[in-house]
Amino acid sequence: PLVATAELVAAARAAGRGVAAFNVITLEHAEAIAAGAEATGRPAVLQVSQNAVRFHGGRLGPLAAAMAEVAHAADVPLALHLDHVTSVELLRSAPAHGFGSVMFDASALPYARNVAATADAVRWGHEHGVWVEAELGRVGGKDGEPPLDAHAPGVRTDPEEAAGYAAATGVDALAVAVGSSHAMTERTAALDHGLIRRLRRAVPVPLVLHGSSGVPDAELRRAVTAGMVKINIGTALNTAFTGAVRAHLAGHPGVVDPRRYLAPARDAMARTVAHFIGLLDGEAAA
Ligand code: G3H
Ligand code: ZN
Repeated sequence: PLVATAELVAAARAAGRGVAAFNVITLEHAEAIAAGAEATGRPAVLQVSQNAVRFHGGRLGPLAAAMAEVAHAADVPLALHLDHVTSVELLRSAPAHGFGSVMFDASALPYARNVAATADAVRWGHEHGVWVEAELGRVGGKDGEPPLDAHAPGVRTDPEEAAGYAAATGVDALAVAVGSSHAMTERTAALDHGLIRRLRRAVPVPLVLHGSSGVPDAELRRAVTAGMVKINIGTALNTAFTGAVRAHLAGHPGVVDPRRYLAPARDAMARTVAHFIGLLDGEAAA
């Protein structure tokens, strides 16, 4: 069934677990997320980024309809979320497309402008029943930018500033920079677990980890134990998808019907989804 992101995040937090949020690019991604979540019996979030909407000609409707349909039909609770939104117009189109939550991303702006833009987005969101996530600090690696120097000032999220930011914006969840970076194809990120614990103590709202594809299994379990709640995973699905397509094409040079290689690609993504969900009970369950 289709449920609200707010509900899944609150339940995960109360249980001391993480909830996985996977990025959707194609219909097969959505189908694979549902299949992988069903295999674990756990809920998940299907999220689509502003970049993916742009890839589909700037239209959210077709993918949103597919995601909602997949969520409705699933045996486990699935939520829809709009990810990394900078366009106020896209933000405001969320409810009409069935999205009850949005990550509004003003993280590239200086602090005061990030606060002002995010507070506006949150005010609008709460008037329209939309749960709003925002980011303070820079996770980096978006849109092909090189990974940031994780020790440069303003890159990692400062707990005191994060507490002030949460209060000033009224945000429902906070994405923080704790050592992960977007679009990593090797799982080599080292997280600052002490910082995660300090952020959890300082910030009253649930914490979100972006760029989780690059985080090793044990690090992800520790991050959940330390207090990360919503765990965003994108690139790992694409690594699985493209690897399966490449392997199939290499073995079947005469193939024409895309279903021949999309089926193994979808299966590979579903296995990846199940694997990541299995890490989010934290260290106690390892
Ligand atoms: O918002 C999406 C996530 O942060 C995904 O990052 O593609 O590096 O896993 P990733
Ligand atoms: Zn992200």
